[in-house]
Amino acid sequence: MNILVIGSGGREHSLSWKIAQSDLCDELYVAPGNGGMGDIATCVSLDDSNHAEVINFCRDKNIEFVVIGPEAPLVGGLSDALTEAGIKTFGPSAAASILEGSKGFTKDLCAKYDIPTAAYGRFTNAEAAKEFTAKQNIPVVIKADGLAAGKGVIIAESMDDAFAAIDDILGGQFGDAGAELVVEEFLSGEEASFFVLCDGENILPFGTAQDHKRVGEGDTGLNTGGMGAYSPAPVMTNEMIDRTINEIIMPTVKGMAAEGKPFKGVFFAGLMITDKGPELIEYNVRFGDPECQTLMMRLNSDIVPALMACADGTLDQISVDWSEKTAMNVVMAAKGYPGSYEKNTEINNLDDAGAADNVTIFHAGTKKDGEQILATGGRVLNITSLSDSVTNAAKDAYAALDKIEWPGGFCRRDIGWRAIEREKN
Ligand code: AMP
Ligand code: GLY
Repeated sequence: MNILVIGSGGREHSLSWKIAQSDLCDELYVAPGNGGMGDIATCVSLDDSNHAEVINFCRDKNIEFVVIGPEAPLVGGLSDALTEAGIKTFGPSAAASILEGSKGFTKDLCAKYDIPTAAYGRFTNAEAAKEFTAKQNIPVVIKADGLAAGKGVIIAESMDDAFAAIDDILGGQFGDAGAELVVEEFLSGEEASFFVLCDGENILPFGTAQDHKRVGEGDTGLNTGGMGAYSPAPVMTNEMIDRTINEIIMPTVKGMAAEGKPFKGVFFAGLMITDKGPELIEYNVRFGDPECQTLMMRLNSDIVPALMACADGTLDQISVDWSEKTAMNVVMAAKGYPGSYEKNTEINNLDDAGAADNVTIFHAGTKKDGEQILATGGRVLNITSLSDSVTNAAKDAYAALDKIEWPGGFCRRDIGWRAIEREKN
């Protein structure tokens, strides 16, 4: 079967790497892909917002299965268009993608189906938002309702900051994504990401991970798309996984079906493990990046049947096998990220750096210029390792990373620090 992956990040490189290993996969295409995927897939230029162009490409290349990586094409209805054209697709409908597309929708769903989450209010009017906010404790969380590339969440440490965030969001800082906002109680605890495949009715838990969103060591500085991750997340014990499934995931599956928006794809539940147990921070409707890279390193089974079963409604017939080991992914980004950064700087010695059996380097913002790899994006490389502990996975990932010759890049040196501290005891 010929397969098309939509996307260009480290997430899509790792998905493609795993899909390429499947006996079910003949030709693999990635649109648009990146500079590191040439040996496993054919990279093609397609406009994923032009559904007719994607459908025509699939017909031309006899593509029977499409895997959509990022959220924007999902919210834009690409999965619906492909499915209507008779092309099997992994990724939820536009209607179901509202779980990520509107934070207000998800909060209302939680309220209606009794899913534990932070107390909240939804507002389109600044005065009303401020009146509600003034009655909350500090810190208080202000969120743009729509997709804001991970930048639409402000944790305000003072009322002045909260009011400024309200004015910024409703004043148009995030465009349409900020036409509405959510004001939310601040939750304390340890964060974890939980991934669950769903075919609209049945679920298959698909791994846990912990991301590091801040740009600076010790979790300081600006928020990013994610600077590194490891899997599994020790805080997600079997008991916590069971509670999350019973209290959060299954009520969501049933609620979405009851609302006429059955969810077929992967739930990426961002959780806060509080004193009371798991609470939902937010849903994403696609794999996390860099979390996905760590999941793909640990997945022993063929991924293709599991992803196809989400579209087919046959997930109850699928089981998958995971490595007991720990995977770690350290992100290298261009100096300046998440602010402005230089493009087209040269990266060298990648083959040598990625030579160890337990290390794989997934590309993100790169392009190939002849034999030379150039950095073209903010997050550029993902150095991923698999080992018997978080401590050793970190050693192996950083040993590989230190062989990479890229003066234009930087990384956090402390990915996994919480778990590494725990392993010392
Ligand atoms: P998001 O971009 O929605 O993933 O949110 C970014 C980050 O903001 C999350 O990963 C959390 O660290 C933090 N956050 C969001 N909502 C809350 C909340 N209610 N309480 C505490 N932290 C939060
Ligand atoms: N790493 C967080 C995300 O993919 O949204």
